[in-house]
Amino acid sequence: MKKADVIIVGSGIAALQLARTLSQQLHVMIITKNHRRSSNSYMAQGGIAAAISKEDHSDQHFIDTMIAGEWHGNDERVKRLVEEGKEAVEELIALKAPFDRNGNDEFSLGMEGAHSTHRILHSGGDQTGKHLINFLLETLSTPNVEWIENEMAIELLLNSSGSCIGVKTKNGAEETREYFSSHIVLATGGAGGLYLPTTNHSSVSGDGLAMAYRAGVRITDLEFFQFHPTLLTINGKAIGLISEAVRGAGATLINDLGDRIMEGKHPQLELGPRHIVAHEIFIQNESGRKVFLDISSIDHFQSKFPSISSMCVQNGICLEDGKIPVSPGSHFMMGGIVIDEVGRTNLKGLYAIGEVACSGVHGANRLASNSLLEGLVYGKRLASFLIKHLKIEDCKEFSPIKVCKKSKVPLPFSMKEIQENMMRYVGIIREKKGLDAQDLWLKSTSMSPFENIEDWDRKSIQTYFMWINALLMTKSASLRTESRGGHIRSDFPQVDDSNWFKKRIVHEQRNQR
Ligand code: SIN
Repeated sequence: MKKADVIIVGSGIAALQLARTLSQQLHVMIITKNHRRSSNSYMAQGGIAAAISKEDHSDQHFIDTMIAGEWHGNDERVKRLVEEGKEAVEELIALKAPFDRNGNDEFSLGMEGAHSTHRILHSGGDQTGKHLINFLLETLSTPNVEWIENEMAIELLLNSSGSCIGVKTKNGAEETREYFSSHIVLATGGAGGLYLPTTNHSSVSGDGLAMAYRAGVRITDLEFFQFHPTLLTINGKAIGLISEAVRGAGATLINDLGDRIMEGKHPQLELGPRHIVAHEIFIQNESGRKVFLDISSIDHFQSKFPSISSMCVQNGICLEDGKIPVSPGSHFMMGGIVIDEVGRTNLKGLYAIGEVACSGVHGANRLASNSLLEGLVYGKRLASFLIKHLKIEDCKEFSPIKVCKKSKVPLPFSMKEIQENMMRYVGIIREKKGLDAQDLWLKSTSMSPFENIEDWDRKSIQTYFMWINALLMTKSASLRTESRGGHIRSDFPQVDDSNWFKKRIVHEQRNQR
């Protein structure tokens, strides 16, 4: 019989950092929906922000993070993020993580939006996620780690006293399985797939959030969603991310009249906070203007940004012309499952780390390259907590595999409809009329967030989970009557500190069936 001390659902940076630390002492099982490298972390281009330069200081990183998050962040948590983040990065450096260096063998530190100085460590130019995840995976080649790939977690299992004791999954053959442990960690990533276009991996659709909500877990800040300003866009179709590091290296944003669109919009111009830059490009696009990254001032573009260059060339962009067509797309969820300082949720036995969690470090808008950092910090912090508190009797045996007959469920909506309606009504700019229309459409399906899904096929479950996420996000966006960070309302255009300073919209509901 196999045993696991801790079950981790997801395989991005937070999951691997946790598993790396735990597996020195404990038996860890990692369950992932696709392949172990199918994650947003693996696709990350820009890098990891950390104040490691002599000219920099964690206090400055703290200020930049709070300003980008429009002061909605939790001061204490942000302080710990930047300080412990620096230590976590230094630990990886000591382990010989492959960060890029310049000709003097110093770390080559990139610049990104809303940072006051160069502090972004990167790897392989614009392939930071790939190199870092491969590096972490190598540290996991130990018998203490057991991989379950291509299994989608569909439900959290609770005992009669309401503690989380396991997780139910579906494999590629639509068979249901149950795994038990006293410590279940959700590291399932965000919900970028709720929108189109998106920079996210196609598997990222808010599964963890939906499962948590169905189990009565507290969720917050879902109205804050970050849209990345620059996705390569050809004939109206978004192809993929063009890292903010490109603007950090000197690219400007111009429209098809040659005007520099960020002039007069923010003192940091193209390197203003993401929501401000994305908003401006969106407005240009809505008024019929095309927007381009002007890269003509960047020397050695192809060697600095090899994967971006090859994506552009493969899609017929001539880099010598110096212009890359761009538009915004969904990128990062600031809200999520409410956690304490180590990753505990309000459900005993359930933890959440990484993008699925709302740790309070991103406020209303995440500072660029702070997400890999969050994964490293919370992965490590939760590992320390579990190692200290886990008792040997916590280990549980796995139950036998349960095979259920799959039956495709004809849902009254498609994934594409959810994505298009979310983009239209709960996208970069929101207003009451659109939010009401979206709420009406979502509710017209007469479904409940607590349907019995055991016999549904994976695609239907994923679509249904997206519907639950859409329902909660729409409600949050309707309730917040101000504009702050990644929540912009045309009918409430101001930050409203008199009513909303640090206030959170929280969802928590138990199945009433
Ligand atoms: C980017 O490379 O622009 C993305 C980095 C991030 O989202 O932090």
